[in-house]
Amino acid sequence: MKIVFSEPQLPRRGLVAVGVLEGKTLTPTAKKLDKATRGALTRAIKASRFTGKKSEHLHVLAPAGTGLDRVYLAGLGKAKGIDALSMQEIGGQMYAAVSGSGLESATAMVDTIDGASMTPAEMAAELAFGAKLRSYRFDKYRTKEKKDEKPSLKALTVACPDSNAARRAFAVKNKVADAVFFTRDLVSEPANVIYPETLAAAARTLADVGVKVEVFGEAAMKKLGMNALLGVGQGSARESQLVVMQWNGAPSKGSGGKGKAGKGDKDGPLAFIGKGVTFDTGGISIKPAAGMEEMKWDMGGAGAVIGVMRALAARKARVNAVGAIGLVENMPSGEAQRPGDIVTSMSGQTIEVINTDAEGRLVLADVLWYAKERFKPRFMIDLATLTGAIIVSLGHEMAGLFATDDELAERIADAGAKVKERVWRLPLGEEYDKMLKSDAADMKNISGGRGAGSITAAQFLKRFVDKTPWAHLDIAGMAWSSKDAPTVPKGATAFGVRLLDRLVADYYEEK
Ligand code: BES
Ligand code: MN
Ligand code: ZN
Repeated sequence: MKIVFSEPQLPRRGLVAVGVLEGKTLTPTAKKLDKATRGALTRAIKASRFTGKKSEHLHVLAPAGTGLDRVYLAGLGKAKGIDALSMQEIGGQMYAAVSGSGLESATAMVDTIDGASMTPAEMAAELAFGAKLRSYRFDKYRTKEKKDEKPSLKALTVACPDSNAARRAFAVKNKVADAVFFTRDLVSEPANVIYPETLAAAARTLADVGVKVEVFGEAAMKKLGMNALLGVGQGSARESQLVVMQWNGAPSKGSGGKGKAGKGDKDGPLAFIGKGVTFDTGGISIKPAAGMEEMKWDMGGAGAVIGVMRALAARKARVNAVGAIGLVENMPSGEAQRPGDIVTSMSGQTIEVINTDAEGRLVLADVLWYAKERFKPRFMIDLATLTGAIIVSLGHEMAGLFATDDELAERIADAGAKVKERVWRLPLGEEYDKMLKSDAADMKNISGGRGAGSITAAQFLKRFVDKTPWAHLDIAGMAWSSKDAPTVPKGATAFGVRLLDRLVADYYEEK
């Protein structure tokens, strides 16, 4: 969908969207339209339950007195409650309500609202961002879909005073939306299309926006001693890959410039680590057949890391950041890892693999250690569809957050709240760590007991981060959605891309 901005001017035909505040209070443009239609809007409101509350809407078809095909009334809620998120949601809901109307274009009129804290240009940019995010569709394999089953809307005009400011603000957000779409595509693709080498190839395209991308195959990882990661991939016909992406956008004195490793502490780059299991059968500890197809999105963490690196580079964020993703396919075969196998990780710590389905932590163990050793990052944040247990804890509303650093945890929670990619912090603790004790090796990859599965998984990862401030996001319940949300259509969500982009923008970019 094409999105353009213009100065306020009511179109003569097509579809026009106007706002109504809670309590049936028409915005100035809605009032004007109501007059032009000799009260059609107020009559339509009277004939319905629409009151202008946020998320309510009403279609008024072919009102007399104008050449318009349709007027879409968007509930804005209370003026005081208007903020960036609410405007995004109103934009997303508007897209969903009008994209299948049969009309190819629409104009949204954004007025100055008395008592709102945002300018119309800011509101317009957020509305457009929300509409764009909702317009995502993964339909490349639906070859028999009829034209009238596809969205008709091709162009959205957002009209507001100072439309130049809106256009500029949207240009930056649109880059983030493009990165979100990129991630959603990668996560949506099936595992016969996206496997370690093709996912690495997708990451390589970030060179186009100025990201330095390195790809390591199995021989290189063997040399590095990444046997925990390699063990997971050894049953697959596909070669495992490690991808390292660097964006050096910080303007100041040499910190990590030109692909050099950071110097640690505040000088080091930010590091984002992703679990990229392109398909998780469980391995020899094989999963049940029902629902196994969902494990094509077990690379959602890696997909989010690729997306955030792309967003940072595309909008030229003034920060140095590294993305490192471990890409493997977890398959059962004659060469697959067996339960009971003991592997020596890159850190030197040995791991008894009790359950080959607890593979994500094995992959992350080596990637975390590698990132820490090579880049001495300021912090590491990993994203992983790590445990089914996190879905038991938090459902599909929030990701699990674990952290060794309170400030980092608070900042992540704050960024998550601002973009509505919410997280909830869970504890770490020695008692949980003890549950990983093995008689045969330094640790085992699952705990003995049945409780606290997400915490013991996090505890396992913690053994591979040393003193580096670290946070872990268990996104198993968030990477994929079975129902539409205002700015996230069902399917791949790209959870984490907007959160991490916002975290960087609000806390780590040099001004
Ligand atoms: N990829 C799964 C976790 C998962 C489950 C993600 C459901 C999304 C939806 C992970 O590799 C896994 O299999 N975890 C096991 C761990 C167990 C063997 C300790 C789990 O959660 O059952
Ligand atoms: Mn698994
Ligand atoms: Zn997995």
